[in-house]
Amino acid sequence: TNPLSGRDLLSIRDLSPEEVRLVLDTARQLKLRYYSGERIIPLLAGKTIALIFEKPSTRTRVSMEVAAIQLGAHPLPLRRDELQLGRGEPVKDTARVLSRYVDAIAARVFSHESLEEMAAYATIPVINMLSDLEHPLQALADAMTIEEKKGDIKNVKVVYVGDGRNNVAHSLLLVIAKLGGHIVISSPPALYPRRDVLEAAKATAAETGATIEIISDPREAVKGADVVYTDVWVSMGEESVVDERRRLLQGYQVNVELMSLASNNAIFMHCLPAHRGEEVTEDVIEGPWSVVWDQAENRLHAQKAVLALILS
Ligand code: CP
Ligand code: NVA
Repeated sequence: TNPLSGRDLLSIRDLSPEEVRLVLDTARQLKLRYYSGERIIPLLAGKTIALIFEKPSTRTRVSMEVAAIQLGAHPLPLRRDELQLGRGEPVKDTARVLSRYVDAIAARVFSHESLEEMAAYATIPVINMLSDLEHPLQALADAMTIEEKKGDIKNVKVVYVGDGRNNVAHSLLLVIAKLGGHIVISSPPALYPRRDVLEAAKATAAETGATIEIISDPREAVKGADVVYTDVWVSMGEESVVDERRRLLQGYQVNVELMSLASNNAIFMHCLPAHRGEEVTEDVIEGPWSVVWDQAENRLHAQKAVLALILS
């Protein structure tokens, strides 16, 4: 038996450091097996997984569907507007009904509370495919990518530049804390991580030996960085604050000049989709630093690990 069997994954906070390690080790093994020709590993044969989307998705949707298929399960992608959920059927009713049909629910939602409600009422595991608060599947793939490129995360300095208060920043902060690495968030004060997330990361760091820093000045922050990470300035659902974000984040663009202040062999990461000319320039995302395609690929392998562990 494994400790993740039957569990929800709403937040990186739900995982102990050992459980994060288990996911990453499993992901690495599944990736190796995939590349040695084992395309289908039917650990989840006969299972069905509902994938609910309240917002668009390319990577998460396709990699979750493919992950399920490669494990022998059947994925059932459902847009919110094609469910009665879109006409006002309560989340708690949807959760109880789907629990009678499928083996797990994964959902991409606007409000993290709706995921919590789903998990409270569902009798099957619920997995976060992105909420306003966190993007845990992204962070697990990111940690896997950092280990592939840089080795033991304990010796790696990861600097996240930009909106420090979004889902991707929160989950990255938490996962690096769980793995005992060094994470710097570089944002204007108005976009520092949420206090409860930062407190949780600091509490974890006290156990794992991680280093957590908030450094507003991006040029100062990226000194010695092994990884420079950014995400969009305006997340899905925040379109009304575009002008304010551009004003706040003007100096936080990851460009060649900023990359030149990082470590010599620094890599550039972005969860994608990217807005070239805004949070990152074309020459950085297309340049020698960029590992974004390998990073995107690892969504598949990391999610196969999550599904295999939770559903078996
Ligand atoms: N990074 C990520 O989650 O991308 P999608 O929005 O395309 O799923
Ligand atoms: N922070 C971004 C991530 C997209 C994958 C958003 O929520 O839109």
